[in-house]
Amino acid sequence: MSIYTATTTAPVNIATLKYWGKRDKTLNLPTNSSISVTLSQDDLRTLTSVATSEKFNEDKLWLNGKEESLGSERTQNCLKDLRSLRKQLEDSDSNLPKISEFGLHIVSENNFPTAAGLASSAAGFSALVVAIAKLYKLPQSFSEISKIARKGSGSACRSLFGGYVAWEMGSEEDGSDSKAVEVAPVEHWSNIKAVILVVSADKKDTPSTSGMQTTVATSDLFQWRIKEVVPKRFEEMKKSIIEKNFPLFAELTMKDSNSFHATCLDSYPPIFYLNDTSKKIIKLVHAINDFYGETIAAYTFDAGPNAVIYYLEENESKLFSIIYKLFNKVEGWSSKYSSEQLGE
Ligand code: PMV
Repeated sequence: MSIYTATTTAPVNIATLKYWGKRDKTLNLPTNSSISVTLSQDDLRTLTSVATSEKFNEDKLWLNGKEESLGSERTQNCLKDLRSLRKQLEDSDSNLPKISEFGLHIVSENNFPTAAGLASSAAGFSALVVAIAKLYKLPQSFSEISKIARKGSGSACRSLFGGYVAWEMGSEEDGSDSKAVEVAPVEHWSNIKAVILVVSADKKDTPSTSGMQTTVATSDLFQWRIKEVVPKRFEEMKKSIIEKNFPLFAELTMKDSNSFHATCLDSYPPIFYLNDTSKKIIKLVHAINDFYGETIAAYTFDAGPNAVIYYLEENESKLFSIIYKLFNKVEGWSSKYSSEQLGE
């Protein structure tokens, strides 16, 4: 019996210009383009291994040690596309083993809480699609493969690239031009860092798909956001990355997080992702920037209360000496950030 295997890891990406709204739910086509920063592989990531063999007569998935259903339409769409690309290869080269016909066994593990607004679906679908593309030895570029990951979870298409990534919304009805592209590699601006303040590790209240549908259907503010705000911000944010202009990048990131949560609040019934602790973190970051007289930190929040704070490495002690003072009783700080080391 032959068994074929492949393994990959995919990191989480955190949007600095948010994707919120679908123009096609099945294909996961967005109502606006978005931008994100992919975190380092050493931080939050999904590790996925896949195996296939003529002995496997069905597809199976184990997520964090527990068998889960592979029945969702989104997962099925990804598997169908990957199999059909492999089939094309097999049809054009009779020496290739016909593994597209075999069942797939997929084992996936996150090193962080699943579905707590920490973009687990992005890393999860990206790892799933890349692992199978590797197993099938597909020759397509990462941008091409990102269109398949997009069908699993929109934001997953951005996790195929490291560094600074744009998801271009595209205009084709079949989604053929809605893909992720690199804005800049991580080495271009390698001194940006992110700290995540986990306000709650519970599953989120309103899943992103249903939240987006409510917003698209009911919020007037959302129409303004996608037509008047995001297109301009998309260009400005790309420029801020190319020029490594942190104060501008930070301002656009914070404004975009606020704009996205404002459309959630403007939805009917309203959707609340931020809680009182999240709001205190927003105030704190503004207070820190005011205190230093320059923008050294930027917050952003996805579909949950947890904060991601972007900052430049050289400002780490400035930022952490304040945050650590407030949160040092909370678990999760490395000894590196003890007040002693911060020179207090
Ligand atoms: O890809 P989804 O369906 O999990 O939606 C992601 C939505 C946000 O995280 C709030 C924004 C984004 O661009 O990642």
